[in-house]
Amino acid sequence: MRVSKAIETRVTIRQFLPTPVPEKIIREILEIAKRAPSGGNLQPWNVHVLVDDPLKALVDDIAGKLKKGIEEDPEYNVYPPELVDPYKTRRRIVGQMLYELIGVPRDDLPGKLKQLSRNFRFFDAPVGIFFVMHRQMEIGQYADLGMFMQNIMLLAREYGLHTCAQEAWARWPETLQEHLGLADHEMLFCGMALGYSDETAIINKLTSEREEFENFATLHGF
Ligand SMILES: Cc1cc2nc3c(=O)[nH]c(=O)nc-3n(C[C@H](O)[C@H](O)[C@H](O)COP(=O)(O)O)c2cc1C
Repeated sequence: MRVSKAIETRVTIRQFLPTPVPEKIIREILEIAKRAPSGGNLQPWNVHVLVDDPLKALVDDIAGKLKKGIEEDPEYNVYPPELVDPYKTRRRIVGQMLYELIGVPRDDLPGKLKQLSRNFRFFDAPVGIFFVMHRQMEIGQYADLGMFMQNIMLLAREYGLHTCAQEAWARWPETLQEHLGLADHEMLFCGMALGYSDETAIINKLTSEREEFENFATLHGF
């Protein structure tokens, strides 16, 4: 598959089939993805991959906590508290598009929370991945981790797989520390669902917008 094709066909999938992903494929994807560049070649990523019993134990634990109304202090703010435009509007639009598609009205908070909670089942994906970093790391290393994650998301396409990057997992630092056996110096940055897309699911029909070239690119000296 051409890189451009992998980029064009990578979309966020929020409903997966139960079809398992062979361990061999997961290993191959991670082996190739590790060629991602990183400043100073720090390779600041650590990955935990969960399938079967460990995945079920985690999602059941969180489902139980959600039922009891238990929450944790998030590991970090996923978005700036006072998000400015155009970013605020872009975020609102994609949210509106998603909820409209799945028939959740604007003022239906329980409906929105229900959809949010689907994150904590990995949208039924058979594989859950967690990206962990040393707490000492700075902004540059988050970029490195992003490149590593993007490698995984693009490689997934080559294997006919899809993904959903999931910052939502930052809401459960204590539970994840326990389930993944993280040391105190390790922080959970992001989760990712991996599996085969359920092509019949309406939620997977979402096509998010992108800004026009001239609104994000400035060419100098052409
Ligand atoms: C780092 C990162 C974290 C994300 N976290 C979540 C998440 O927790 N839940 C979710 O449903 N989508 C999540 N997304 C998906 C974005 O909403 C999605 O990438 C964006 O709306 C663009 O849509 P597309 O990926 O289909 O092109 C995340 C994406 C990235 C890159």
